[in-house]
Amino acid sequence: MADNKGYIERFNLNQRLQHAVNAVACLILFATGLPIKYPDSLGYMASFIGGYTVTTTMHRFAGGAIVVLAIFHLLYNLVDREWWRTKDILPAWLDLTNIIKDTKFALGLSREKGTYGKYGYREKLDYWGAFIFFPILIATGLVMWHPTFFVAQGLLPDFLPAIRVVHSLDAILAGMAIMLHLYNVHLNPEFFPANWTMFTGEISAVKAKEEFPLWYERVVAEGKVHEEPATAPHAPTALEVSGGK
Ligand code: HEM
Repeated sequence: MADNKGYIERFNLNQRLQHAVNAVACLILFATGLPIKYPDSLGYMASFIGGYTVTTTMHRFAGGAIVVLAIFHLLYNLVDREWWRTKDILPAWLDLTNIIKDTKFALGLSREKGTYGKYGYREKLDYWGAFIFFPILIATGLVMWHPTFFVAQGLLPDFLPAIRVVHSLDAILAGMAIMLHLYNVHLNPEFFPANWTMFTGEISAVKAKEEFPLWYERVVAEGKVHEEPATAPHAPTALEVSGGK
């Protein structure tokens, strides 16, 4: 196949479904968590949702979905041969050199930008950030869900208010991280107006070569570039229109 032509699978269906469940559950958790935290100013959100009983029940359901998803995600990667073969998502020295190169570029000190593998340091920060935010949200959420159980296990009741504060502070920080994630993947000029990869599972060869050149070289060598998109085509980005010129 000619250079710069064709499509490459970036996320399989299972990974896309995991991402969709995560995104929908997080949306529900924010929409229901905020009126629980700020009943005076955001009570109207709870009324819109159907009252506080519905709002708190929905929050628990979506929280439960996140717990199940987290366990599934860990088990999925544990048995995923591709994960162990490539270890693409693990932090590497290349990330550090890319951060230095990109910072110098942004400051006008160098003309050289970082060169990324399948995931750059932004994607890795997004991903591993979740490993900090979610365990805290899950642990504190479970305690608020069943306080009597945890108190019976030896948790001092005096800690319960602090656990509530930690849960909501972590939720607000996670919200900020998610906004950064939305900027990085959709509003970033490289991907604007939208990044379809998490919906279709594919990336065009021209985009892969531009954004993730080391990964592109590897998939070309492995013969994993196919001519036609496996899913419905979407509006091309400016880069795709120009064919990478
Ligand atoms: C993105 C994830 C999440 C966000 C944004 C979020 C947000 C919030 C917020 C802002 C509150 C109000 C805290 C307060 O009143 O000060 C809350 C309460 C709560 N959260 Fe979460 N949360 C998340 C995940 C979870 C998870 C994973 C669970 C369960 C495992 C959970 C269970 C709860 C429970 C039980 C409450 C107390 C609800 C009540 O007062 O009836 N949350 N959450």
